[in-house]
Amino acid sequence: MQTIFSGIQPSGIPTIGNYIGAMKQFITLQENYQCFFCIVDEHAITVPQDRLKLRQQTLQLASLYLAVGLDPERATIFIQSEVPAHAEAAWIVQCNTPLGELQRMTQFKDKSQKLGMEGVNAGLLTYPPLMVADIILYNSHLVPVGEDQKQHLELTRDFVERFNTRYGTVSQSILTLPEVKIPQKDAGGRVMSLQEPTKKMSKSDGNSKGFISMLDEPNVIRKKIRSAVTDSSGKIEYDPANKPGISNLLVIYSAMSGDSIPSIVEKHQDSGYADFKNELAEVVVSVLEPIQERYNELLVSEELQTILDEGAEKAKKVANKTLQRMRNAVGLGRKPRRK
Ligand code: TYM
Repeated sequence: MQTIFSGIQPSGIPTIGNYIGAMKQFITLQENYQCFFCIVDEHAITVPQDRLKLRQQTLQLASLYLAVGLDPERATIFIQSEVPAHAEAAWIVQCNTPLGELQRMTQFKDKSQKLGMEGVNAGLLTYPPLMVADIILYNSHLVPVGEDQKQHLELTRDFVERFNTRYGTVSQSILTLPEVKIPQKDAGGRVMSLQEPTKKMSKSDGNSKGFISMLDEPNVIRKKIRSAVTDSSGKIEYDPANKPGISNLLVIYSAMSGDSIPSIVEKHQDSGYADFKNELAEVVVSVLEPIQERYNELLVSEELQTILDEGAEKAKKVANKTLQRMRNAVGLGRKPRRK
């Protein structure tokens, strides 16, 4: 059975962008793959976090993983920092990655340009090697993510090829080369902000009207969708270049309802934007409400703690094996003795 790894940062409550771009894929993929789904709290501290809030958000994300339907019998759900191999493998990755490659990463370039070199932590630069470590430790074949992670996956593939060439043999490679799995644009690979539909929807957007959090109350969801930016033509059409606002709402509608975009467009041929938005709001509420109910029960349950304990143990077993192969490859420590 092939293996899947993916992660979400507990840097806020996940948005419907995270749900559509990532979590929804996880649910279907767990049927046919061995899966590892991680709460990447070490990634979250690349920017300053309130420690109590971070801990809370870590548990909230874990509950949401379960509430959307991830099954701990099929998928290993765990917290990154509870598996020390991630940080150790990341060091080996960093020592085998040219600095220039990291400086060229869009996320680092954008943030360091905005805040200046003194305004960003070194962890922001070395964030992609930690992500590489996450992926390779589980011998992952496939990594389901949204479109914004594509560049990081390219870096991962380049790293694996370089590492295997440098340290492996022709007959035996040390690390598995992963493939990336991104939903098509019209299937929600990049859900856009409700307020600035040319910008990605993000949980860290300063304007909370730009995103729908998976824990927003129904009335908040309705209000945010009603105030979503559209255009003045009044015609419901999928045309991302010229009508980014309404096209984004169509993508959300389609991902949340399972209906195709053409069928939604046809159904709303004679509707105005207001009616369309009201209907979309009910679709979103009908998906999120049951998730929120399960989430509320799980968050305070002992079950959640047990699942995370067991997840960390299972993850450690796999991760430590790969880490040992990496340590051997580069010559760290003493040769392991047979027990
Ligand atoms: P993060 O926490 O920003 O986002 C989690 C997942 O949600 C996807 N996503 C979106 N998809 C569609 N539309 C959007 N507006 C949108 N916003 C976010 C992201 O692409 C991602 O799949 N670096 C990663 C976390 C990570 C990871 C990993 C992922 C760490 N290690 C290893 C995969 C494998 C991140 O910051 O995701």
